Amino acid sequence: MKLLQAKLSQYTAPQEAKAAGIYPYFRAISSEQDPEVVIDGKKVLMFGSNCYTGLVNDPRIKEAAIEATRKYGTGCAGSPFLNGTLDLHKKLEAAIAEYIGKEDVMIYSSGFEVNLGVVSALTGREDYILWDEQDHASIIEGRRLSFSQSLKYKHNDMESLEKQLQKCAPDKIKLIVTDSVFSMEGDVANVKEIVRLAKKYDASVMVDEAHGIGVFGEGGRGVCHHYGVAGDVDLIMGTFSKSFASLGGFIATDKEITNFLRHHSRSYIFTASITPASTAAALKAIEIMKAEPERQEHLWEITNYALDGFRNMGCEIGPTSTPIIPLFIRDNFKTFAITRDLLEEGIFVNPVVSPAVAPHDTLIRFSLMATHSKEQVTTALEKIQKVFKAHGIIS
Ligand SMILES: Cc1ncc(COP(=O)(O)O)c(C=O)c1O
Repeated sequence: MKLLQAKLSQYTAPQEAKAAGIYPYFRAISSEQDPEVVIDGKKVLMFGSNCYTGLVNDPRIKEAAIEATRKYGTGCAGSPFLNGTLDLHKKLEAAIAEYIGKEDVMIYSSGFEVNLGVVSALTGREDYILWDEQDHASIIEGRRLSFSQSLKYKHNDMESLEKQLQKCAPDKIKLIVTDSVFSMEGDVANVKEIVRLAKKYDASVMVDEAHGIGVFGEGGRGVCHHYGVAGDVDLIMGTFSKSFASLGGFIATDKEITNFLRHHSRSYIFTASITPASTAAALKAIEIMKAEPERQEHLWEITNYALDGFRNMGCEIGPTSTPIIPLFIRDNFKTFAITRDLLEEGIFVNPVVSPAVAPHDTLIRFSLMATHSKEQVTTALEKIQKVFKAHGIIS
């Protein structure tokens, strides 16, 4: 065996989990992606999707995607920089700029690539990136690619952020980067205080609204809009892979910033544009989010219902107040075993184990969509109670 293969063959954790019958990944869905999906020929309730609007199987969005495929074809075969810009992409950029309320928008081929290509490109050697220790992996990767000085602050801890800001040279650029809703534990960034500190220390702010859009704010515009600070946040990032029921991502910001990024952001320039189908789907999703606030209202109704249900059951759910509900298990093996047992009971949830979180912070992530009925949430609560009791998580 060559050295490379010999070294990697020592990584056997997945095989061990499979042998123990608890491997929880790559479970293939063979149906439409509704609140109820089919896995291995069996119907299960889906509480693992990030499509908070539940639009992923909406016939209007599917039709828009099919129509765009008929008109433009299946791919773009090039970077937006060269041959990969369609008038449809321009239309989507304009629609998002209007929706988010920023001068300009750039579309990347995923949310991951937005964070990678924006965070890495904006600041130079003598500047600073200040980031929350629980920021998404894509922000962390962008920061790793940057030559700037990296200052981590404690999770959503504004004293810690201020201490880091005090370390920065006043005449250098300071970029604060945070998730709006933290993806693992569902808590919300203190964006008002972040903006206040940014003003005090002359810093710039970038907010990742991957889990905020479709959930918070009028028409689902996100946490920054909900708290009235969108105008003071310099860069708002979003993904099309969650509430927009599509694939791709965007950065919404000032023209000076997009002018620079369009010519320097490597994950924008050196990769192909999103497909016509993905573009049309995202466009249609914005239209629906703006026109149908009742979806968002229902999402909040079932979210509050589930939050109360889990608290009354005695589950440890941390400071979440959003449709991302972490159910702390605090043990890798049990987290996997419970995920498997819940699937057998007809409930799909996502396990979150180390290294995504610290080994003592493992959890099951329960996520809601606007298309779940209250009855489906009730069923999930009952099944979770049964399985958690069997594993001694609650009494
Ligand atoms: C907070 C956050 N930012 C960015 C991303 C990346 O988005 P995408 O799926 O479009 O690559 C995710 C997705 O998991 C996320 O949770």
